[in-house]
This record gives sequence, structure tokens and C-alpha cells, in this order.
Amino acid sequence: MTSLSKRKHPRHDAWFTELSLGAASWSGLGGAEGDQIAAKVVEDAWDAGVRYFDTAPYYGSGLCERRLGTGLVWKAPSDFLLSTKVGINLDPFGRGASVNRHYRHHAGFAPICDYSESGIRQSFETSLHRMGIPSADIAYMHGLSICDGGIEAALETGMPALLRLREAGHVRMVGVGANTPAIAMAFLERYDIDLLLFAGGFSLMDHKGAEAVIAACSNRDIGVIAASPFASGRYFLDENTAFRGRLQSLCTAFGVPENAAVIQFALRYPPVLSVLWSTKNPANVARTVAALHEHIPVGFWDALRDDKLLGF
Ligand SMILES: NC(=O)c1ccc[n+]([C@@H]2O[C@H](COP(=O)([O-])OP(=O)(O)OC[C@H]3O[C@@H](n4cnc5c(N)ncnc54)[C@H](OP(=O)(O)O)[C@@H]3O)[C@@H](O)[C@H]2O)c1
Repeated sequence: MTSLSKRKHPRHDAWFTELSLGAASWSGLGGAEGDQIAAKVVEDAWDAGVRYFDTAPYYGSGLCERRLGTGLVWKAPSDFLLSTKVGINLDPFGRGASVNRHYRHHAGFAPICDYSESGIRQSFETSLHRMGIPSADIAYMHGLSICDGGIEAALETGMPALLRLREAGHVRMVGVGANTPAIAMAFLERYDIDLLLFAGGFSLMDHKGAEAVIAACSNRDIGVIAASPFASGRYFLDENTAFRGRLQSLCTAFGVPENAAVIQFALRYPPVLSVLWSTKNPANVARTVAALHEHIPVGFWDALRDDKLLGF
């Protein structure tokens, strides 16, 4: 058993491991074999010291909540942080217009966008039921760029409902899952949130326009969770070859493994509490933890800035 460095939320007695595990990657894994793989990933991550875990109703339509809950249910709740999301509810009867833009494995439940007061409450409660864990430390607003009119509805009714869950003491911290600076800013400017889950909008590959968001979080004591360092796998696609080629030459010059640069990028910015990644390959747990621990000289980041790979 190893341990990972932790970072404290500026306003809460909550400590985030610098690397955290998300459950989204298991959405495409069906059957009992998928259950076993997810269990192995959680256990290996736990043994490597990971103590912050994230899931959502939308991921595999409940499948990933169930798998994450199974992996964590016998751990002491005070030993880890857990987040889920609200805004996309699961309907077992296929009522309403379902959204299913990312995840093929559906588990028979239809994901329905619902930012009403009762929808937010129901989303949070049923998420706890599916996980089999009666409390979560954090709830994020979800689905903003998936649901038609999601941003407006979440701003009008969803966020007030989520804040009421915090006021009632049902959840310690609330936040927003945003994949663009514009979405992040719309919520930061209007609401007193604890965390920004910046998904894909703050990675080495893509952090265009993020500087103002990071500064706003820093000024307001809002913790940032930098999610999707590998852009859900798009980092490895042909479309990113040019970026990777430039990065790889600098990595070679400084003796820095490429994945170390990808994983450690966001941690250089003070409001960032954790890098949230995901895998369906147990072997990639140790590889990612190793990438977190690699020593990277300051001169490497300076060289990336000189080469315009770093925006700020
Ligand atoms: N709006 C939101 O709220 C939102 C949006 C996106 C993400 N998130 C959260 O952030 C988490 C992470 O996002 P993500 O799923 O996009 O994850 P990611 O870490 O950016 O990408 C996962 C991809 O990277 C690959 N990978 C993982 N570790 C690797 C390694 N060491 N070497 C090479 N390839 C590796 C995985 O392949 P293998 O499976 O083969 O390892 C998979 O294809 C999600 O699970 C979710 O919890 C939230």
C-alpha cells in the first residue's frame, strides 16, 4: 500500500489526492467480466493511494455508479472522498426524451435531463441508492453541454436546488462539471460553488481560454478538479499527432516521459486539487501513478511555454 500527496480544499476540511479515479471508462464494459475489471481498477487505485473517486448517473446509465459503489462500500467513508452528479436522471420506463451521446452500454435505463428542484433531489438520492453508499462528499451539476437548454435550466433551477441540498447538509460540497471556459464562467460568476470539475477544458492538450477561469477559482477559493487529461482517449488519436510530435521532442530533450507531462500539467496551478482520470485497463493504474511521481524539471515547462504548447 502506498500513499499519494493530498491537497486541502481552501474552505473545507477535505483532502484530495493529487490523482483521482473516474468511473466513466467502464461504461463500455459489459457483463460480469466488466464488473471484475472495474473492481480490479478500483482496488489497484486504492492500493496505489488514490482516495478521491468520481461517478455519475449518466455513465453507463447507472452501471458505473454500481461498480464504483461495489468497490468502495467496505472502505471507511472517512478514508476517501466521493463525488456524483445531478442533472441527468435515469428512467426505468423509458419516459421522456433520453440523451445518450457518449455511452453505448445502457443497462436498460434512459438518461433524462432534469434540472427541476425535484429532479435534482431525486438524481442525488437515487445515485446514492445505486452506489449502495448513503453519502457523497460532492455533487456536481452535469450534462450542461449534452442536454438541450441544459445550461439555462441549470442556471435557473438546477443550481438553486443543488445549493439547497448543501444547505440541508445532505452534501458537503457542490460544483459544476464544465468542459469549456464559457460554461465554467457562467456558473462561477453567479453561484457560490465549492468546486469546478473542469473536464477536458484544462488539459495539456487543450487549455485555451482557461486562464481567466483558473484565476477566478483562485480568487474565490474554489477548488479545481482537472478531469480528462487524455481527453477520454482522443489524446492518442491521429488528430493530435502534430501536438504530440512537438511535445515528444521536448520530452526527449528533457528526459521526461510523455504521460508524466500530461498527468502533471494541471497540478502546477495552485487552485487545482486533483487530476481526475479514468481507465478500463488495470495495467494503466500503475502507469498513471508512475507518471504522477516522475520528476519534471522546471525548465521543461519553460520550454513548453517557449514552444507555445503552454498557454499560460
Ligand atoms: N462533465 C463532467 O462532469 C465530466 C466530463 C468528462 C469526464 N469527467 C470525469 O473525469 C473522469 C476522467 O475522464 P475521462 O474518462 O475522459 O478520462 P481520461 O483519463 O482523459 O481518458 C481515458 C482514456 O485514456 C486512456 N488511458 C488512461 N490511463 C492511461 C495511461 N496511463 N496510458 C495510456 N492511456 C491511458 C484510457 O484507455 P484505457 O481505458 O485503455 O486505459 C481511456 O481511453 C471521468 O471518468 C469522469 O469521472 C467528468
